[in-house]
Amino acid sequence: MENTLSQEKVIVIDFGGQYNQLVARRVRECNVYCEIYSYKTDLEQIKAMNPKGIILTGGPNSCYEEGAPTYRKELFELGIPVLGLCYGAQLMMHVLGGKVEKAPVREYGKTEVMVETSSPLFGNVEPTTICWMSHFDYISKVAPGFEIVAHTADCPVAAAQCLEKNLYAIQFHPEVLHTREGSKMLYNFVRGVCGCTGTWRMDSFVENTIKEIREKVGNGKVLLALSGGVDSSVAAGLLSRAIGKQLTCVFVDHGLLRKNEGDEVEAVFGPQGQFDLNFIRVNAQERYYSKLAGVTEPERKRKIIGEEFIRVFEEEAKKIGAVDFLAQGTIYPDVVESGLGGESAVIKSHHNVGGLPDYVDFKEIIEPLRNLFKDEVRKAGLELGIPEKLVFRQPFPGPGLGIRIIGEVTAEKVRIVQDADAIYREEIANAGLDRSIGQYFAALTNMRSVGVMGDERTYDYAVALRAVNTVDFMTAEAAEIPFEVLQKVMSRIINEVKGVNRVFYDLTSKPPGTIEFE
Ligand code: XMP
Repeated sequence: MENTLSQEKVIVIDFGGQYNQLVARRVRECNVYCEIYSYKTDLEQIKAMNPKGIILTGGPNSCYEEGAPTYRKELFELGIPVLGLCYGAQLMMHVLGGKVEKAPVREYGKTEVMVETSSPLFGNVEPTTICWMSHFDYISKVAPGFEIVAHTADCPVAAAQCLEKNLYAIQFHPEVLHTREGSKMLYNFVRGVCGCTGTWRMDSFVENTIKEIREKVGNGKVLLALSGGVDSSVAAGLLSRAIGKQLTCVFVDHGLLRKNEGDEVEAVFGPQGQFDLNFIRVNAQERYYSKLAGVTEPERKRKIIGEEFIRVFEEEAKKIGAVDFLAQGTIYPDVVESGLGGESAVIKSHHNVGGLPDYVDFKEIIEPLRNLFKDEVRKAGLELGIPEKLVFRQPFPGPGLGIRIIGEVTAEKVRIVQDADAIYREEIANAGLDRSIGQYFAALTNMRSVGVMGDERTYDYAVALRAVNTVDFMTAEAAEIPFEVLQKVMSRIINEVKGVNRVFYDLTSKPPGTIEFE
């Protein structure tokens, strides 16, 4: 969605570095709206957005090599403050007449840096502070008009500035938390150098987006696949507030949701809920179970669940007929992961609901959350009055419990894992741990073993409990849950869930394990 031109914003120009999203986040944490664009974005386009400041990100290349990502010199002559980070810093020097070379010593990791506190970048920063370095190349000579304002033992130019033109270069990464005072440095740039007043707030986002949706949609019809996850729920809430009954949400209950989840989604978005929209719940449980009968191979299971979703959705869409817009709850990290850095509309192939249909007859895609990060989506959800329970829902995979049941999926196994998981979640919440653990759930192993209950021999399933802490879901560590809590969960599951006689706690980190079991 376009945002109003008058809104104060900072543009991040992406050179392919791994921390680019973090840069945007830190800027937003200063209450300044921020968007990321690829370095291939035209200068005219950047200018037309009327940014108060521009940040160039890091990247994996060497700026002096042929074909390396670059930018026109005119970028630095717009009169708009520019901050280059890492590769961005080197590029700024390279383009403006300084020198960048391969460093004799590669700097990587936490490094002590000495800064000039008189620099606008380093106001209120300790003269000697810790920064995060990760570079092969270094700036051996600053461009004319620049002065050095920070250095480390191995890096003569850790930061440089040209006050007259409002250009700044930082060799390290202020956006990562390892740079102890990095947030302060970015704040100094965004709020100080760029003069942003910090008016970006979630209520204004919600208000503006509702206005924009109305303008864009007019009298048109919008169709949204509602999964019950945070993103599609918030998208539904926003669209409903904007266009009411012009929105139809199709919610497919594939029978692989957590316990009571289908009813909870219906309670919020169905006819008894607080939102004005057309809500269609498709109870496709039996259909899924029969498709999954006898299937044990994980990828095959995933595929069946994804394909079946599209089929069900397509059937519903056919009943509705042509729509003008297909809405999606795509959020910012999805856009970035798909490699387009916010340049154009993307339909994600690996979406929560398993890749959306080409088959539905629609004219345009509408993605009201495509500029938000997850925590911002949650804030928007609260702003819209969506219940906390739904807003703070944990990540839940599109294939649902299908990939938390090892081996064949049956209705009986779904019941077991739903009940065990509900107990686990309840006890985690009772122990006050629900907001501090990244992701936790129960899974059903395909293992049965001998046990004894009362005087009876049992031969039942083993449930596995998983809880991980993770920053980015790429790596994860098993969470340390107090033993008493685990014990309570174990005893309740054994007592209350028929068909289970053993409970394991999964200690595996990722890698080598994944978070899910299949
Ligand atoms: P893994 O198991 O790959 O999970 O370590 C990493 C994160 O991704 C979630 N996940 C999925 N999310 N569709 C989704 O929308 C999927 O097919 C899928 N598979 C895994 C998982 O819950 C965890 O948060």
